[in-house]
Amino acid sequence: MKKTCHGVHQMVNQRYGDQKGLNYYENQTTNLFGNYNIFLFSSAPLHNLFRELVTFWNQVKPDDDIYYMQSWLNIYDESKSIGWHYHWTEKYHAWHGFFCVDVDVSKTSYCLSPPQYQESKKFDYQYQGKPILEYNEEYEIVDVVGRDNFLIMSRSAGDTHRNIPWKIQDRPRITIAFDIVPGRHIFNEDWENHWIPLI
Ligand SMILES: [Fe+2]
Repeated sequence: MKKTCHGVHQMVNQRYGDQKGLNYYENQTTNLFGNYNIFLFSSAPLHNLFRELVTFWNQVKPDDDIYYMQSWLNIYDESKSIGWHYHWTEKYHAWHGFFCVDVDVSKTSYCLSPPQYQESKKFDYQYQGKPILEYNEEYEIVDVVGRDNFLIMSRSAGDTHRNIPWKIQDRPRITIAFDIVPGRHIFNEDWENHWIPLI
């Protein structure tokens, strides 16, 4: 899987690297998540993970709504991190999660009661990759310690989360992240066609 991820990293950067992307994160395959879906790359490890993910989803899904998934690669070198951010807000009834390809040892912190945020200020939590808002004990923080091959999934319902900077020099931290969103909230005029159905 690591070899596949490095290949995807190279291909995405070659194909879309000159495009603007979001520019919020410290890695282009994260910024360019709207340009591709990692599970559409032909690879046995990705195929197996997709099957596992669909099996898991069918065990935890809250209803029989039609859901689609966007999925991308996070690959971060030493000292890099993903700052505080959130995904789809509660009203969308979406889910998000990630698969740990190479994360030993690192953690993802979830803030379950973040300060009030506004939809229009989605990424105010960081600027040029640096967090501008630090939570303190006033807020409920839950740390998820990453282990390779963990598949972590939760409702996207008002939490924010981040990683601590990666401390290992000789290899990057690699995760595959995804959002699962009801189809009625996905409008083709707003998104390139990088969504895949979960059936
Ligand atoms: Fe995230």
